Amino acid sequence: MANVVVIGSQWGDEGKGKIVDWLSERADVVVRFQGGHNAGHTLVIDGTVYKLSLLPSGIVRGGKLSIIGNGVVVDPWALISEIDRLKEQGVNVSPDNLIIAENCALILPLHGELDGVREDAANVSTKGGPKIGTTRRGIGPAYEDKVARRALRACDLFSDTAIENRVDVLLSHHNPLRRGLGVAEINRDDLIARIKEIAPRITPYVKASWRVLDAAKHDRRRILFEGAQGTMLDVDHGTYPFVTSSNTISSQAAGGSGTGPGNLDYVLGITKAYTTRVGEGPFPTELNDEVGRGLGERGHEFGTVTGRSRRCGWFDAVMVRQATKIGGIDGIALTKLDVLDGMEELKVCIAYELDGERIDYFPASTEAQARVKPVYETLEGWSESTFGARSWKDLPATAIKYIRRIEELIETPVAMLSTSPEREDTILVHDPFED
Ligand code: IMP
Repeated sequence: MANVVVIGSQWGDEGKGKIVDWLSERADVVVRFQGGHNAGHTLVIDGTVYKLSLLPSGIVRGGKLSIIGNGVVVDPWALISEIDRLKEQGVNVSPDNLIIAENCALILPLHGELDGVREDAANVSTKGGPKIGTTRRGIGPAYEDKVARRALRACDLFSDTAIENRVDVLLSHHNPLRRGLGVAEINRDDLIARIKEIAPRITPYVKASWRVLDAAKHDRRRILFEGAQGTMLDVDHGTYPFVTSSNTISSQAAGGSGTGPGNLDYVLGITKAYTTRVGEGPFPTELNDEVGRGLGERGHEFGTVTGRSRRCGWFDAVMVRQATKIGGIDGIALTKLDVLDGMEELKVCIAYELDGERIDYFPASTEAQARVKPVYETLEGWSESTFGARSWKDLPATAIKYIRRIEELIETPVAMLSTSPEREDTILVHDPFED
């Protein structure tokens, strides 16, 4: 029996939703450990569509404990509306099955506003930094306040004095900043009133979640750590500054939930059979042509949270190999292979060329990342459909060759293969929980 960490190995949107749902059915506890409501996925269970962005996926299945770990930034208003929406759909959400870590930093309306103001300013001038293409949910500004030690945290919601003190500290930073940006200042009393109004809806869920995790460990319960976004959006290891504001890699599962690294037994990296990205930033294998548009159409590549079209390109084995090393990925779940059905030939990036030199890793410098050119290997495509395949013998030989070549290039085995959004359309090679 093992605990499993699920992370994205590319730029997010690798199809984690289905895999996490498949795994969470078999887990006892599901924990989110970073990010916030910038993530989004749709679960289809027995024909009912559930849209989640902040809550762990286990919430829609009965008998599981869901934990929002301390590494997550929580927007109380977004959380309550997500809970209310799920309750209307008949899902049980109560303090018995949902816990919010008491040391979570909170996202306030001023964070979302600042996120949007900065993105808009970046449109007209790069003085304030480049446009990132954020989800405008206030994720970055909330993490900034956390690291700057002025955040309002979930534990503060129990005390009027704590709320007032934290708001004063926050506004002593945000109001001068807003003045400088030409945005109206925040009225202290209005903000405090809004927070005090929402506080009693949040506090019943707020606990020392590390203790709950520790008890789960002692009771030998299966824990699934549910990552959001992807490795290339990691604030340290991704395409900085075009990244999200948290660590998205597997090691964050320990720090972002309050458990030891020894409790992370198996790391499953969700990997799309091609590459997509939303927002700005470098993307060496991007296809700005009919082939790229075809991938986008067949793969329904539109952002779940913002509705933006995703940029599409060939599979980048250099980048995914880097992600498997940084994240200690034990096996990958390869998704959306069927989107490649019917393509005569497929390209896979096996190295980069940087200023005339061949390199086998993605460099850290923003300028170098923008200059790298992909070196491709061409593989034969297949005309048959792989959609819904449930065993290796349902797959054409050339599709199996493509998968084997990817495994070789990224130096990591395929543990699961997903061939449609349906849960049953999955080929299991290695059960992560049985590691
Ligand atoms: P933020 O996380 O809203 O600050 O956005 C920073 C970058 O991460 C932008 O490029 C977003 O498009 C990207 N991003 C954030 N969340 C997701 C996600 O769930 N999937 C894919 N990209 C994301």
